[in-house]
Amino acid sequence: MVGRLEGKNALVTGAAGGIGLETTILMLREGASVLMTDISDAGLSRALAEVHAVVPTHSGKVQTRVVDVSKESEVEAAISQLDPWGGLDVLFNNAGIMHADDGDAEQTSERIWDLTMNINVKGVWYGCKHAVKSFRRNAKTKASVINTASMVALVGAATPQLAYTASKGAVLALTRELAIAHAREGFRFNSLCPAPLNTPLLQDWLGDDKEKRFRREIHFPTGRFGEAIEQAHAVVFLGSDESSFVNAADFVVDGGLTKAYVTPEGPATEAPRNLGV
Ligand SMILES: NC(=O)c1ccc[n+]([C@@H]2O[C@H](COP(=O)([O-])OP(=O)(O)OC[C@H]3O[C@@H](n4cnc5c(N)ncnc54)[C@H](O)[C@@H]3O)[C@@H](O)[C@H]2O)c1
Repeated sequence: MVGRLEGKNALVTGAAGGIGLETTILMLREGASVLMTDISDAGLSRALAEVHAVVPTHSGKVQTRVVDVSKESEVEAAISQLDPWGGLDVLFNNAGIMHADDGDAEQTSERIWDLTMNINVKGVWYGCKHAVKSFRRNAKTKASVINTASMVALVGAATPQLAYTASKGAVLALTRELAIAHAREGFRFNSLCPAPLNTPLLQDWLGDDKEKRFRREIHFPTGRFGEAIEQAHAVVFLGSDESSFVNAADFVVDGGLTKAYVTPEGPATEAPRNLGV
């Protein structure tokens, strides 16, 4: 059976866990070759072991590389690593942070602001920049870049994380502009806008603070957090040729959260199981 990403070369940032790991697994299942990158070497080793356990046979290659997305030379070198494979086809700019010391306009320090912007915005820009250079170098006539933003860039929250929210708004804007600028080259750019998820990024931050959790859970139409695999399925679609006419989209995968006013009562819907850790 031919996979939906057969023959495509993909690079995933923040691939050591959460959305990045689930996406790597689904991409391999769909026939892609994947370069998994992350700032955490130990995290990548654990994730690769998980990938081999879940997808023991696959037609594509899978490799890992330590990359800090806020360092342009590291991003450029990682994308170039795919040249001998035939060149990059799909870039998933997914790495991001949400710092515990991020707060409202007064609370957020300049250090946290700059750190967040360097990873969440500059990192995405570096990825896009070197993806375009690679697509041209390798004479690609169709390619896809998916940048992870967030639904917090679409709606306001009374629990502010100003640097994070601003960074994700910047991701939406830069993605939209690149999508239009490169449309006639066949290079598509879309933003993924996840709702709050059951991944370490948010769950470690919420911990067992019931009030903090309730403040969010009351707004979920489905009554539950999203799962990483539910985002990963959307990324596979956006990376594949099935989405050839989907460009410049704020691709919202949120269980209806950003369209809800009063939420339903009753038990939560059943969540799908993630394939990785
Ligand atoms: N979890 C949520 O509720 C949620 C909601 C909306 C958007 N998002 C976004 O989804 C993306 C993935 O988040 P996740 O929930 O899978 O979180 P996660 O924490 O499980 O994964 C993020 C990964 O990024 C890596 N990373 C951090 N800084 C890096 C850097 N400088 N260079 C390279 N890698 C780095 C981490 O090591 C980690 O493996 C992020 O951009 C996040 O902002 C998450």
